[in-house]
Amino acid sequence: MPDLSVRIGSLTLKNPVLVASGTFGFGADYARLYDPSRLGGVVTKAITLEPRRGNPPPRLWETPCGLLNSIGLENPGVEAFLREELPRMRALGTAVVVNVWGETPEEYAELAQRLSVPGVDAIELNLSCPNVPGKGLIGSSPAGTARVVRLCRRATGLDLWAKLPPEGDVLAAARAAEGEGATAISAANTFRGLAIDIRTGRPVFANVTGGLSGPAIKPLALRLVYELSRAVRIPVIGIGGIAGWEDALEFIMAGAHAVQVGTGNFIDPLCAPKLVRGLEKFLAERGMESWEEVRGCAHRGGIPGAA
Ligand code: SIN
Repeated sequence: MPDLSVRIGSLTLKNPVLVASGTFGFGADYARLYDPSRLGGVVTKAITLEPRRGNPPPRLWETPCGLLNSIGLENPGVEAFLREELPRMRALGTAVVVNVWGETPEEYAELAQRLSVPGVDAIELNLSCPNVPGKGLIGSSPAGTARVVRLCRRATGLDLWAKLPPEGDVLAAARAAEGEGATAISAANTFRGLAIDIRTGRPVFANVTGGLSGPAIKPLALRLVYELSRAVRIPVIGIGGIAGWEDALEFIMAGAHAVQVGTGNFIDPLCAPKLVRGLEKFLAERGMESWEEVRGCAHRGGIPGAA
C-alpha cells in the first residue's frame, strides 16, 4: 500500500485530502454519511471572537459551473465552539484545523491564543473572506498579512496556515506570511463575483458581491498554486473547484502538499473519501510509494518516464 501521508509544518496528515472551511460545518452531519477519520483533516467554519448571525438571505446563488456565496461568517463564536463543537470534533479521528477570522490583527491573535488547546491541530487564518465589506480581505496586502501572522505567531505554538484571497499580490502576501512564521499557505479563498436578478435589476446579494467557488475557478486556483509552490518554501494547500481525484492530483502535480474539497462536498457528499480512494489507487497502480515523485512534477517535466 502506498504511504499517502503528508507533512505540513509540524503536522502529519494521514492523507492529503481535507475538507474546506464552510462546507463541512463541524463534521457532525457528514459523520452520518461516512467515517471522517478517512480524511486527512477537517477545517472548521470560520470562528470569530463573538457569535455572528451572518448576512441576510439570499446567501447562495448557483451559476452554471460554480456557486456564489455571501454567508457573512455566521458562527457560534469561540466560546461556544470550544465548549460544544470541539469535544465532538476531537472524536472525528482526523486532524482538526480551526479557521479563524478577526476584525483586527489583535482579534486574530486572541483567537489563536484561546484556541491553543488540546484537540486543535492547526489554525487557519482566514485573511480572505470576501463577504465582510471593507474588512475581509486583509490577506490581499502583504503588510496586513505580515501583521496578522506576526501577532498570531507570538500568541500560539500551533501551526498557522495563512488562507489568502486569489486577488492582489498573492505571491508577495504568501512570502510575507512565510517570513512571519506561517507553516502553510492555503490557496485560495473564493473569487469575488456578482449576480444580478434580472426581474428586479438589483444584485442578488445585500452586499452586492459574493465569493465564487466550484469548477469555474479550478484552472485559476491551479495556476496560483503552481506559482505559489515556487514562491515559498512552506507547503501550499490547494483549494478551488476540486471535485474528483483527478482534480486533486493536478493540484499535487502543480506543487500542492494537500488539497481542500469545498463546493465538491455539496455536489456529492461522498466526494472527499472518494477522492482519497482515487489518489491511493493512482499511486498503487503506478507502484509509487509516496507523493515524492508526483508532487510538483509539473515543474520538472512531468512524471519520470511518462510518455
Ligand atoms: C462567508 O462566511 O461569507 C465565507 C467565508 C469565507 O469565504 O472565508
